[in-house]
Amino acid sequence: KEHIAEVEAFNAETADQIEAFRIKYLGKKGILNGFFAEFKSVPNEQKKDFGQAVNALKQAAEAKVTSLKEVLESKQEEKGVYGDLSRPAEPIEIGARHPISIVKNQIIEIFSNVGFNVSEGPEIEDDWHNFTALNLPEYHPARDMQDTFFIQTDPDILLRTHTSSVQVRYMEENKPPIRTISPGRVFRNEAISARSHCIFHQVEGLYIDKDVSFADLKQTLLYFTKQLFGKSKIRLRPSYFPFTEPSAEVDIYWGLETETDYRITKGTGWLEIMGCGMVDPNVLRNCNIDPTEYSGFAFGMGIERIAMLLYQIGDIRMFYENDVRFLEQFKSSI
Ligand code: PHE
Repeated sequence: KEHIAEVEAFNAETADQIEAFRIKYLGKKGILNGFFAEFKSVPNEQKKDFGQAVNALKQAAEAKVTSLKEVLESKQEEKGVYGDLSRPAEPIEIGARHPISIVKNQIIEIFSNVGFNVSEGPEIEDDWHNFTALNLPEYHPARDMQDTFFIQTDPDILLRTHTSSVQVRYMEENKPPIRTISPGRVFRNEAISARSHCIFHQVEGLYIDKDVSFADLKQTLLYFTKQLFGKSKIRLRPSYFPFTEPSAEVDIYWGLETETDYRITKGTGWLEIMGCGMVDPNVLRNCNIDPTEYSGFAFGMGIERIAMLLYQIGDIRMFYENDVRFLEQFKSSI
């Protein structure tokens, strides 16, 4: 009877524990076989009770083993379906922002701190917004500066070659004062190489108000380069754009200035980072802004070129290949 109580109270978690229990009671040298051996020496009048008790114990032990095995099996099945719910979770892989987005967001941040808003426009443009309004009438030789992708055979519809088209749209829809930057994707029919691609990104800026001068432009560029590169040794080289007069190209001095300047190791010297100038009066007129009342400046830069400088990237094609070994390196950036 004591044994029956013990058998019924028994519980086991593992297959090994159940097997040990089975051997203890039902094995060759187990408790039950011991009782069966004793049976012969039990006095006749007690044989019936003894026999019944031993049989009850045997059944109890067998039933226990069966039921424990069933419980164990059903637990293992559950594990198969749900996994081990107490196990620590797999770490979640966190992605990285694309370097183009990182640099674009930095540029937006820098200009929004001095009152510029962000404007956007269509990537498929018409001739007016991409060229004609910007003082590039049909047959103007400067149109060749930007090899254009046209949409099928319609010469009026094209992929924008710069985001200056957004500035035209913005001037058409808003009255001065205007302070806006236009980030976006642009397209040019150029051979793909380490230095240039047929798709790239620009941020162009526009500032129009009363009495805006070239000094305001230069000061804005000094502020911008100081914020983005941590330095503002720049020079303006006279240049030509149909939509600005005078026009200039902005170079930044990219050299080892201090021993701890970790970003800069190669490609030192003057490097061109953007174009700029005072908005041509013809452009203002095309956008219904009176050039006798207002003046302004504009500038435009390629995001890839700036990201290549900041991150020491030697080949522009890396931005579009989506090689995870490249992209993963930007995990620590915002
Ligand atoms: N739109 C010019 C380009 O695509 C850049 C630029 C913008 C130059 C504004 C001057 C003023 O290269």
